[in-house]
Amino acid sequence: GCRAAVPRPYPGTMSVHYVTYKGIKFPPAYNSEHSLSFAHNEFLVRDDDVFNVTYPKSGTVWMTEILSLIRSRGHPSWSQTVLNSDRMPWFSTRLGLEAALSYPSPRLLTCHLPRHIFPKSFSHSTAKVIYTLRDPRDVVVSYYYFSKMCSSYEDPMSFEQFLRDFLSGELPHGSWFEHVQGWMEMKDQENFFFITYEELKQDLQGSVRRICQFLGQDLDDDAVSSVVRNASFSAMRENPMCSSVLLPADIMDQTKGRFLRKGICGDWKNHFTVAQSETFDRIYQDRMRGLNMISSGHP
Ligand code: A3P
Repeated sequence: GCRAAVPRPYPGTMSVHYVTYKGIKFPPAYNSEHSLSFAHNEFLVRDDDVFNVTYPKSGTVWMTEILSLIRSRGHPSWSQTVLNSDRMPWFSTRLGLEAALSYPSPRLLTCHLPRHIFPKSFSHSTAKVIYTLRDPRDVVVSYYYFSKMCSSYEDPMSFEQFLRDFLSGELPHGSWFEHVQGWMEMKDQENFFFITYEELKQDLQGSVRRICQFLGQDLDDDAVSSVVRNASFSAMRENPMCSSVLLPADIMDQTKGRFLRKGICGDWKNHFTVAQSETFDRIYQDRMRGLNMISSGHP
């Protein structure tokens, strides 16, 4: 007799049931429709909140480290003893929401939310947003490796396919283009500050000073140096409170890669074919037309 083959998911096609909110997919491990809807509609922004906002893989945990070190005036003990997600809760997720609600002011908060589903109460507050953006070609490479090691993201079939999904806005957290466009509409408002990953790489000390100025935090030279030292790639790799090594293995499989992977600019050159690079540039030019903001190494 012939036995029917039991269908088994081919590794790499394991399907993940994303949470969908307003047409955008979110990884299921931490998000729920309720947490996202609550963040959007009911979350009460306080005037002294500081938000770290990014599209994934743009330098989120790096900015978390910088902002918490600035908050502790360069003293590394907070960053070395408290998990980054407890220092800067992900308020639109199930667990992060609880943390955010019980967090004493002034709060530091993190999210990847696009502008149009950011808390409504933000509009009439003086809360500050720091938006970090990164060369989207490096974002897609970083995102590709991250998706492989993270169980709440579908395992990419190939880089080619992943790049296509990135360009068509189908990856979790939605379209990079729409994310950047939505947030950059705020670029002239005084409670909004944007910086690029490339600027952080090129001049971390100058960047930290600019961030301090935006936050109205007066740090002396020693404190600034300590922020810079403790937020370096190597220091962060040494610090289990921010390197993600403490995440449970069923969330992030550390045998498949490292969250703090390379930490460089331009790794896309090792991954894109000439054809992919040309396609990317064409779509980028088209989508970013009129958004005259990128001057630091972006196409
Ligand atoms: P790579 O995968 O290119 O190495 P996010 O925190 O938004 O998920 O972004 C993660 C990316 O930021 C990873 O990029 C990671 O290595 C990089 N990163 C984190 N901390 C960094 C640091 N101190 N210096 C340089 N890159 C850093």
